[in-house]
Amino acid sequence: MDTGLLHLHNLLRWVILILLLLSIVKAFTGWQQKRAFTGGDRRVWLFTLIAAHTTLLIGIEQLLWGRFGILKVTIPEGESVMKNSFFRFFWVEHPLFMVLATIFITLGYGMAKKPVADNIKFKRAFWLFFIALLMILVAVPWPFRGEGIARPLFPGMAA
Ligand code: HEM
Repeated sequence: MDTGLLHLHNLLRWVILILLLLSIVKAFTGWQQKRAFTGGDRRVWLFTLIAAHTTLLIGIEQLLWGRFGILKVTIPEGESVMKNSFFRFFWVEHPLFMVLATIFITLGYGMAKKPVADNIKFKRAFWLFFIALLMILVAVPWPFRGEGIARPLFPGMAA
C-alpha cells in the first residue's frame, strides 16, 4: 500500500502541474481580457485545489510512515537532519515548500468566493497560483536533482 501511495503521490504531481497551468492561464486571460468570472474558471481552480490537498495528505502520510518516514527511520549516528542533504530535502525542504504551495493554491481558489470585482479575483489568483507553481517546480525531486534526491518522472521509471 505504501508503494501505491508513493506512486500516486508521484503521478499527482502531473495532475497538479497541468491543472495549475490551466488555472494560471484562466486567471491571466481573465485579468488581461477583463472578462467575467465564470463557473468554468471556478471549476478548474477547484480541481487544482482538490489535487493539491490530496497530494498533501499522501505527502504527510509518506513523511510520517513512508519508507523514509520520520516515525520509521533513525538518522545515522553523528548525522543531523540539516547536515544530511537527503533528510534535509525530504523531511524539511520538500514538505515546507509544498505546504506553502498548497496554502497559496488554497488562497488562489479562495479568490473565487471573495466578494471583490472579477478583475481583482483574476489578478490576485494569478499571482497566488504563479507563486505556488514556482514553489512546486523548485521543490519536486526531479531526475536531475542530486544523488539520492532524484526521483523518476513517472512511477516505475529509472530516476
Ligand atoms: C504539491 C505538492 C507535492 C508534490 C507535487 C510532490 C511531489 C513529489 C514527488 C514527485 C515525489 C517523488 C515520488 C517518487 O519517489 O516516485 C515526492 C516524494 C515525497 N514527498 Fe512529495 N510532493 C508534494 C507534497 C508533499 C508534502 C506536503 C509532503 C509532506 C508533508 C511530501 C512528502 C514527500 C516525501 C516524504 C517523499 C519521499 C517518499 C519516499 O521516497 O519514500 N510531499 N513528492
